[in-house]
Amino acid sequence: MSSDFKELRLDNVTRRFAHADGRTMAALDGLTLTIPRGEFVALLGPSGCGKSTALNCIAGLLPLSDGAIWLDDTRLDTRPPEARGFGMVFQNYALFPHMTVRRNIAFGLKMRGVSAAEQAARVEAAVKLVQLQGHEDKLPGQLSGGQQQRVAIARAIVVEPPLVLMDEPLSNLDAKLRLEMRAEIRRIHRNLGRSTIYVTHDQDEALSLADRIVVMKDGSVRQVAPPADVYAQPADLDVARFMGYRNELAGTLHDATGVVRTGSLTFNGTSKGKLATGAPVRIALRPDDLVVGDGPNAFAATVDGIEYGGRESLVDVVTADGARLHVRTPVAVRIGESVRVSVPPTRTLIYAA
Ligand SMILES: Nc1ncnc2c1ncn2[C@@H]1O[C@H](COP(=O)(O)OP(=O)(O)OP(=O)(O)O)[C@@H](O)[C@H]1O
Ligand SMILES: [Mg+2]
Repeated sequence: MSSDFKELRLDNVTRRFAHADGRTMAALDGLTLTIPRGEFVALLGPSGCGKSTALNCIAGLLPLSDGAIWLDDTRLDTRPPEARGFGMVFQNYALFPHMTVRRNIAFGLKMRGVSAAEQAARVEAAVKLVQLQGHEDKLPGQLSGGQQQRVAIARAIVVEPPLVLMDEPLSNLDAKLRLEMRAEIRRIHRNLGRSTIYVTHDQDEALSLADRIVVMKDGSVRQVAPPADVYAQPADLDVARFMGYRNELAGTLHDATGVVRTGSLTFNGTSKGKLATGAPVRIALRPDDLVVGDGPNAFAATVDGIEYGGRESLVDVVTADGARLHVRTPVAVRIGESVRVSVPPTRTLIYAA
């Protein structure tokens, strides 16, 4: 496949599996997305939501039950994986243990019949890109986890694929290495100038890496948006929960402009979606958006728990109605202390219950 492409189009990509009891379930249900060249897309969602299924469908490792995949004007989903020519990085690296770093990286070029001289030149360039100079003659077992991960990335990109697919590539690494490799992956993506589809269940990873995030649940796409939008304006309550809106209050929409009554409290908020006056709703609040101190939507509460966290602590407060809320705050408080807590209306999100 040409690397000189404009866009990859996923049109209603669907994959169903037959289960032992005869029922058929859609592991991936109608993924529709256009990815322009150069874009970094993250597929984000909880375990079992269909992320790997989506990636395997795109790579050609799983046939589609419905839908189509196009690279510009070429239909890809009817072609075998090797004809699509995408680079894939698996969660477990899948390196050849008996081959040196050099031979692992050269493998795809050799399979494509590239001359020995060109193989050498391209492997050298790939080694440089992932910064593994000096390790070319080692075996995978002689490398650290992060170095092995970089070999896997080099092997995927050396054939200069139009699309690089990565399935939770950092999940086997320790926290420090994960942060380092994040920056590496972003840098490599930029240098290649192709498209990357990156699967993760880690919100921070998706937020920090992607140009656009596709949030999935139960095989369906719930939101496609840039990181800042997914973070600040989740499309529905499930997405909000997944993105760390840990506080929820049940109430009734008192006024369509966004006034919610919940117990003895009234909140001015921002309605997500069309909601009718009188509708049962849920208010979703991030711990980071609640403020200890007077301000908009202020209410009285009692401090009931403190989890010290350096610059900011995670404080549990209980309202007069007995609702427990998590608040991330730099303000020093004591257990049992009466406090005022407030939250801006723009950060008080209202969803259909
Ligand atoms: N070969 C298969 N046969 C039957 N069901 C399958 C098969 N592969 C996946 N599934 C089901 O499809 C759904 C999605 O699986 P998938 O592996 O895509 O999830 P995922 O989002 O990658 O999860 P994780 O984060 O745990 O890797 C799951 O319910 C899974 O049980
Ligand atoms: Mg998976």
